[in-house]
Amino acid sequence: MDSITLTRPDDWHLHLRDGEALKAVLPDTARRFARAIVMPNLKPPVTRVAEAAAYRARILAAVPPGLSFTPLMTLYLTDNLPADEIDRAKECGIIHAVKLYPAGATTNADAGVTDLTKCTKTLARMERLGLPLLVHGEVTDPAVDIFDREAVFIDTVLAPLTKDFPALKVVLEHVTTREGVEFVKASGANVAATITAHHLLMNRNAIFSGGLRPHHYCLPVPKREVHRQALIAAATSGNPKFFLGTDSAPHARRAKEAACGCAGCYTAHAGIELYAEAFEAAGALDALEGYASFFGADFYGLPRNGEQITLVRERWRVPNELPYAADDVLVPLRAGETVGWRLEDMQ
Ligand code: NCD
Ligand code: ZN
Repeated sequence: MDSITLTRPDDWHLHLRDGEALKAVLPDTARRFARAIVMPNLKPPVTRVAEAAAYRARILAAVPPGLSFTPLMTLYLTDNLPADEIDRAKECGIIHAVKLYPAGATTNADAGVTDLTKCTKTLARMERLGLPLLVHGEVTDPAVDIFDREAVFIDTVLAPLTKDFPALKVVLEHVTTREGVEFVKASGANVAATITAHHLLMNRNAIFSGGLRPHHYCLPVPKREVHRQALIAAATSGNPKFFLGTDSAPHARRAKEAACGCAGCYTAHAGIELYAEAFEAAGALDALEGYASFFGADFYGLPRNGEQITLVRERWRVPNELPYAADDVLVPLRAGETVGWRLEDMQ
């Protein structure tokens, strides 16, 4: 098989940033994906419907002419997001989920939730109205080993949460562990997960191969090979609980190549191609379309896309850097190396 054609995919977990950076990165996503769930971790975070609507307008204004792209907006859950804002979110039709960042868990998560019991009313409203909760599934306790933070989160936060709100739609975002996969599989149909391409392609050795590799550092941090194998098995299984979310998270080069480099891998420049590589390596290219183009839409209760894209088996070299902001560039995943599938221009 030297080319594959699939229904145009969607990205169910994406960071688009704002301003100049937004204009720089959005074309990469809009060339490939019809829609994306846009993360609300701006500075300051997007915590209200009106802010999400304004951000959405800025995104739409940055879509290159000739491309169709629909941003699906999210709200950032804080200790004091009122339940009534959930009513407004549901009514306005542009908000598709609420994002839970445990306070301090990752980039721009300072305003995150300190104690989930403060959100009981809001979560109950989401459960009633069918608005999904997207979870950054890591505990932030510095006493917990960084490689165990997802597994501990599942036991101490996610399991009780799904018991307390049994009908709440929950997506365990960028799942990275076997424990996460098992939890999602054992839960009801209202619990799903996204898996990034970089967690399918790399284990934790990639952060340290030949030296410290800041561009392979993201959160949740990649885990051991057994976990990567569990992610591959889940993504390629045809189980509709697992679907595509790139977690493409751009940062300026200086912010990554620093004494304290920030977390996030930029993958939107090869957002579907990298998945094709991972699925091909697993002998499961035929499972790509369900994972990339069907299961996420089904979970969110949105129609599947009508258009198609074609990927050709052809190696291309990823640029060393991409434009990002006036004063700095962006280093994409695989910079200076190759990707084995190329996107044909859309028909
Ligand atoms: C994300 C970012 O940079 O916004 N970083 C990351 O490593 N994935 C935040 C996140 O999704 O955790
Ligand atoms: Zn993310």
